[in-house]
Amino acid sequence: MRDRINSLMQELDTFHPATPAEVEEFRIRILGKKGILTALFEEFKSIDPAEKREFGKQLNLIKNKALETINAQKERLAFRGSKKQTTEDLTKPADILNTGSRHPISIVRREILDIFRKMGFTVQEGPEIEDDWHVFSALNFPADHPARDMQDTFFINNGSDNPVLLRTHTSSVQVRTMEKQKPPIRVVCPGRVFRNEAISARAHCIFHQVEGLYIDGNVSFADLKQAILLFVREMFGSSAKIRLRPSYFPFTEPSAEVDVNCNICGGTGCNICKNTGWLEIMGAGMVDPNVLEASGIDSKKYTGYAFGMGVERIAMLKWQVKDLRLYFENDVRFLEQFEGGLL
Ligand code: PHE
Repeated sequence: MRDRINSLMQELDTFHPATPAEVEEFRIRILGKKGILTALFEEFKSIDPAEKREFGKQLNLIKNKALETINAQKERLAFRGSKKQTTEDLTKPADILNTGSRHPISIVRREILDIFRKMGFTVQEGPEIEDDWHVFSALNFPADHPARDMQDTFFINNGSDNPVLLRTHTSSVQVRTMEKQKPPIRVVCPGRVFRNEAISARAHCIFHQVEGLYIDGNVSFADLKQAILLFVREMFGSSAKIRLRPSYFPFTEPSAEVDVNCNICGGTGCNICKNTGWLEIMGAGMVDPNVLEASGIDSKKYTGYAFGMGVERIAMLKWQVKDLRLYFENDVRFLEQFEGGLL
């Protein structure tokens, strides 16, 4: 019996199966009903009682060792199996991740900001939820100006002395900049704006603007015109032309509306430019002295110009998209088409 125990011990020590089936076969041969160990336990019942203590101990030891060995080998083979699957072919090219593309509005927004950065403007952002002061009062809007009306502005908390509202333009960021920074000031303010308007192919209640402000000792209307011309040529090509029409904004005097020559018909007239050969792209003007004073800037020492444009409008002209709503519906078939859109 001792010999058989020893040889079984040896067998357990050297057991190194290659497949799970071998482990199972081994288990049956040792621990099965007709297995070696089962037979030894059977034999144990009839040995000399004096030897029972020693052999009993040894048989239990070897049984535990057999169970441990079998489990350990089972685990080793299972682990090897799983490892084999994940490391199958390390040289295989990885699956291509679909990273999507930049939104056309983001592309144009970035292009606009890059052009003005080259002219020395820095970028300023501000809150979308504003108060009356930064959106209207500080910008010289008379108390009864129709833009304050519910029809244009989304009020969050109407009726209070200082109503909370969604900004209708990013001129509010220009006010915030003038309040905390002394001239010279040269900033562009991108951001979302909100107007209570019916949604159509040409208008939306949410859209994006980039507004600009330049205040210094001797800023003139000629500087404004030159900056706009430079911007338009960078954006629409070196042969682009601009036209300024007199206009009115409470915060600028004089004020102008800026047109660019229609790049769709080349000036001969089409349905996009309504046969005029020109497309309106922005509002602009010399900052009204009242606006400078309201933000604590000496209007006798400083002058400035300001302009503001809708990013969707520029994007529509750049890519000749006829319906502004496409920019908001986020159909990937539309979004994927834009040149330079890849991240
Ligand atoms: N704030 C004006 C708008 O939202 C645009 C503008 C900015 C006009 C600066 C003139 C000067 O329509």
